[in-house]
Amino acid sequence: MKLLIDTDPGTDDAVAILVALANFDNEEIIGITTVAGNVPVEVGTKNALRILEFTGRAEIPVYEGCSKPISRELVTAEWVHGTDGLNNLNIPATNLKKQKLSAVDFITKELEESNEKITISILGPMTNIGTVIKNNPALVENIEKIVFMGGSALRGNTTPVAEFNTYVDPEAAKIVLNSGIEIYMLGLDVTNKSITTKPRKEKLKKISNKASDAMLHLMTSLDELPLVKEIYPEGTPVHDLLVSVFLVDPSIFTHKMVNVEVEVDSELTLGQTVVDSLGISDRKPNVNWIYDLDSDEVYNVLFDSANKLN
Ligand code: BDR
Ligand code: CA
Repeated sequence: MKLLIDTDPGTDDAVAILVALANFDNEEIIGITTVAGNVPVEVGTKNALRILEFTGRAEIPVYEGCSKPISRELVTAEWVHGTDGLNNLNIPATNLKKQKLSAVDFITKELEESNEKITISILGPMTNIGTVIKNNPALVENIEKIVFMGGSALRGNTTPVAEFNTYVDPEAAKIVLNSGIEIYMLGLDVTNKSITTKPRKEKLKKISNKASDAMLHLMTSLDELPLVKEIYPEGTPVHDLLVSVFLVDPSIFTHKMVNVEVEVDSELTLGQTVVDSLGISDRKPNVNWIYDLDSDEVYNVLFDSANKLN
């Protein structure tokens, strides 16, 4: 597999990146592209570089992406991830540098030149990929599949109906979802079913290596936020983690091909993903909507990954 990770790191993005690094080698991961979302893009780029240095994977190139959504002002989520994006994770700063090429130029070039189709993991707003497709629609032919965290069939986490990633750049999400690419959606429907329960946190703690300590910090760093305590008394979701787990073992998840559209006009419901899970519209199915998973197996992949990384 040729894998590109597109991300706005982000505490849960960082966990997802660690799991991807544990399971795919430098030949497979062609690059990490960053995008504005949880934090301004420069902060996210630094975080991607810090994680690569921390795991000894400096050969993987990082390309900085769009600093704002396609046609809106940026909304960030520092209140969840901290101003550093990693809630003060104690790993060293890095001297590693981002690549000169922008993320959009890099993705475009790869899709033009690669003789193997590329799988894209999207962990943040879809601005980079949406921009690439908008400028060069024919390039979708060279995308194997997209697996993304975003959207929800039921309630949102940023507005009553919209999830953060689709809310931040609904226009980009609309372009991607209607591109004809094979797409797998991991929305709040499933991320909320896979939480950091006490026994899971204890098991991770027992692994007690550099990677498990970092994961534990990232995964528990939101626990004391009053809103989080109220909504998730038993443990929090680690949203983006599921994208990497899906890439490692898709058999853990159950999906159904349905129509998913993103609201881009209404002020009230902006960024909502309208998931036709019952097939009651006449709109064409365009997304493999993931609606169930084996949560224990998700965590087994996480534990294995921590052990592999050391
Ligand atoms: C998504 O929003 C971000 O805050 C997380 O990193 C995740 O990608 C969850 O709604
Ligand atoms: Ca993210």
